Amino acid sequence: MRKILVAGNWKMHGSRAMVQELLSGLLDGTNKAGNADMAVFPPFPYLAETQRLLTGSSIFWGGQTLNPAAQGAHTGEVSAGMLLDFGCSMVLVGHSERRTIYAESDEDVAERFEAALAAGLVPVLCVGETLEERENGTTETVVARQLDAVLNRCGIEGFRRAIVAYEPVWAIGTGKTASPDQAQAVHAFIRDKFVSQDDIIAGQLRILYGGSVNGTNAADLFAREDIDGGLVGGASLKVADFLAIRDAVD
Ligand code: PGA
Repeated sequence: MRKILVAGNWKMHGSRAMVQELLSGLLDGTNKAGNADMAVFPPFPYLAETQRLLTGSSIFWGGQTLNPAAQGAHTGEVSAGMLLDFGCSMVLVGHSERRTIYAESDEDVAERFEAALAAGLVPVLCVGETLEERENGTTETVVARQLDAVLNRCGIEGFRRAIVAYEPVWAIGTGKTASPDQAQAVHAFIRDKFVSQDDIIAGQLRILYGGSVNGTNAADLFAREDIDGGLVGGASLKVADFLAIRDAVD
């Protein structure tokens, strides 16, 4: 039986008090052994507090991005080694907000993916089309292009220890979730693309869906064959909402 991953991307939200309240609440709610792994992605300044609270628990944590350089004159940036210093085991790469607001190209994303792998972090590669691209019928072309940039750089082997998150841009933070059929179709497309290169890696790859996941729609999404969990934004900021998504797994 596959194990679902429920991951919370806090984006630029929170405060020290909120981090403590949220993580304590999640810890209280994770006593039962379920069929879901959980992970949180707090803003960088809260990683120390996250490490302090989650060490020894079953919840994973990671950074929201990283700079591919190990160190140097990169004001405002954070390296893979710094994330490791604070106990991170994962890192998001290529979130649509990084691609659009911070102009990360497919090549930039691939470089970050490679740096994460080299450091021993699990990269969570985010891909997805805009509304215009969906309406033009180019969803698969766009997702394939985003995946190919990473495949060309790291090969199929690069996905042995990685996670992919399909996040249609039009569904992020809009309350408009892709239907389970729409999401499953793209997830199957992604898995098939990997199957043609290595069916074992493809079979084991976790492909998360992201975009307005909540406690009400999660169960139908996670029930689909190629949807192995969720990357949750807004609903990961409240203990009850995030745990409701986790509980949708069981
Ligand atoms: P959302 O965000 O759940 O608020 O739509 C998802 C994400 O951006 O990862």
